[in-house]
Parts: sequence; structure tokens; C-alpha cells
Amino acid sequence: MKGFIFDLDGVIVDTARYHYLAWKHLADQLGIPFTEADNERFKGVSRRRCLEILLEMGGLQVPGEQFEAWLLEKNEDYLSYISKMDASEILPEVPRVLEFLRERDVPMALGSASKNARPILEKVGLASYFRTVVDGNEVVKAKPDPQVFLMAADRLGVAPAECVVFEDAQAGIAAANAAGMYSIGIGDAAVLGEADRVFRDFTEIRPGFMEHLLQLEIK
Ligand code: BG6
Ligand code: MG
Repeated sequence: MKGFIFDLDGVIVDTARYHYLAWKHLADQLGIPFTEADNERFKGVSRRRCLEILLEMGGLQVPGEQFEAWLLEKNEDYLSYISKMDASEILPEVPRVLEFLRERDVPMALGSASKNARPILEKVGLASYFRTVVDGNEVVKAKPDPQVFLMAADRLGVAPAECVVFEDAQAGIAAANAAGMYSIGIGDAAVLGEADRVFRDFTEIRPGFMEHLLQLEIK
């Protein structure tokens, strides 16, 4: 494996929690029951698609203007959470893994559905690790479509089959698999069963496994 691609929300930083709180706030306002289990469907999915799913759950159909207003409201709520972010919100042992790869000159990319990805990377001080950032401002086809990861591989100059993807979302694992990449789920194995490997978090990823990935031949 020659290129490493990381999702952002729920992999590098714990922002999946903030997305959930912001959607939950809107759902409560609209009287739509919304649990953390429901939120699994929102992970890796664009803001617009999340709102469509939420309204489907509530059986609501609204005019375009109202839809746009709620999108804005959710994002403002989310921004109020991330405005206070700093390096303390980097998930455990993520810097160790990034450093391991940087020391070996392995090119890394960020592949995220979020339009807020760049400012978050800057806030937590990790931007310099990534040779390229592909985010929700550029991607037209949302995960589970492989577009975001294929763009990242292309910019790294690495063949998709020689890329590893770290993802916390079902849709993200599906996207990595569709791209023909080696997929690593970060989270619950019951949710991420389609991944090639699943770890609860980066504390479970030992240097030996990282060495193994670098030696791994294409699928
Ligand atoms: C993904 C999150 O990374 O970004 C999704 O997993 C979120 O939950 C999506 O909806 C879009 O994020 P944003 O910041 O553009 O609203
Ligand atoms: Mg994610």
C-alpha cells in the first residue's frame, strides 16, 4: 500500500458527535424522533442528503426555501460547536499514526464529505500532514459513491488499489470498497462489517499493523 486516505469526522476528530447534536436539535424542533442509531445513516453523507433523510423520517415535505433555511440553521448550530475546537479534540493516537506515515514519506490525503473540513484541520493543527484535501466543496457524488477517494488517489498519484482508507461511516466503507481500496473501519464492527479490517479506535492500531499495511500487496 502506497497512499493513505483519511476521512475526517469521526476518524481524526470527534466531530461526528457535533453533527449528531446539531441534527438532533433540528429534529427535536420539528418533532421528529432521532436517535444515535438513526444518526449512523447520516455519517459520511452530505449535509443536503442528511436533511432529505431527516424529512423522510418525519414524513415531511417542505418548499425549497424552508429546506435551505434548515440547512443553514443546522450548519450554524454545528459551527457554534466547532468554533471552540482545538488540538485536544483530535481522537486518541491519531497523531502517532500520521507521524508514523510522515516519517516514512508515505503520501496522505483527506477525503471528507464535509464543507467544513479545511477549517477544522487548521483549527486542530493537522493540515500540514495532508498532501491534498478533497472535501464536500468539490465532490459532486456523495459517499457511497467512490468519487471522493478516487479524486484523492489521483491527486496523490497512487493507484486506487494501492490506497488504504480509514472510515467511520458505513457509506464511507462502501465508497472505499467501490474504489477498489483497502478499507479500515474505525468504530463498531457491527456497523462497519463490510470493511477489510475494523478497529474500535486508533489505540488498537499498533505499529506492527502499520508496517503490515505498507508491505501489503494489492487486493
Ligand atoms: C461528513 C459527516 O463527514 O460530512 C456527515 O460524516 C456530514 O455527517 C457531512 O453530514 C457534511 O458535513 P458538513 O460539515 O458539510 O455539513
Ligand atoms: Mg466520518
